[in-house]
Amino acid sequence: MTAKTPPTLAPDLVDGLRRLKLAAMRQLAPELLVTAKTQRWAPEELLRTLIEAEISARDASNARNRAKAAAFPVTKTLDEFDRTASSIAPATLDYLSSLEWITARENLCLVGPAGTGKSHLLVALGVAAVEAGHRVRYFTAADLVETLYRGLADNSVGRVIDTLLRNDLIICDEVGFAPLDDTGAQLLFRFIAAAYERRALGIASHWPFESWGRFLPEHTTAVSLLDRLLHHANVVVTDGESYRMREARTKGAGTVTKHR
Ligand SMILES: Nc1ncnc2c1ncn2[C@@H]1O[C@H](COP(=O)(O)OP(=O)(O)OP(=O)(O)O)[C@@H](O)[C@H]1O
Ligand SMILES: [Mg+2]
Repeated sequence: MTAKTPPTLAPDLVDGLRRLKLAAMRQLAPELLVTAKTQRWAPEELLRTLIEAEISARDASNARNRAKAAAFPVTKTLDEFDRTASSIAPATLDYLSSLEWITARENLCLVGPAGTGKSHLLVALGVAAVEAGHRVRYFTAADLVETLYRGLADNSVGRVIDTLLRNDLIICDEVGFAPLDDTGAQLLFRFIAAAYERRALGIASHWPFESWGRFLPEHTTAVSLLDRLLHHANVVVTDGESYRMREARTKGAGTVTKHR
């Protein structure tokens, strides 16, 4: 018994579809042409099926590319975010999950102690935004400042900022973990001023805003930076016990020593 040869497409059609970069159509067309013939599809139905297949393949590939470009350090989702374990009000979480603030170019500022879900929420919202078609880029504040610093070396800070602002949402996590020098603070200010009312920013910090002087050396820079950041911002305070400590205690029942 000989194996049935799979259907093929005429070489000129293969070439044309390749030239037009319609890879999904090229892959599906041979089978679909056979199906359409045997099932007596209307010609329009065949065309529609091919076009829909190409569109969903493109959407999936664009989403994969956006997810890669976002450079999330981990994958966290909103579904994995335990609302009952968070101090954030359900209505606030609903509004943030709607992603409307991204379209409205508002900022999100999460402030709270270690392990209270700030990074989880920022990444999860970023992942949801990527899935919804937005362009997102995750940075820690240290990485963002380093990226801007590199631009100083060859006088391309403006261009670096323009490239960053091609994203709809720029996440800057761990603000204030390390103090910034004068130049670093100026660069961060320049970035936030450029993003002001143009793009959505997602920020997380341990430090309440009145303490930002601890890591922003120049008082006027700190004031001007916060002024822009907090105008059109959703400020969300996370508090309570560290989720990490809570998990460690549940897992290792009684083995966690208290730190003072
Ligand atoms: N409400 C929550 N539901 C599910 N997991 C959570 C929640 N809050 C925190 N976690 C988990 O606990 C761990 C610590 O949370 P996360 O990294 O978001 O804390 P953080 O507030 O960013 O802390 P830090 O200030 O130290 O960076 C992560 O693994 C995160 O997924
Ligand atoms: Mg964090």
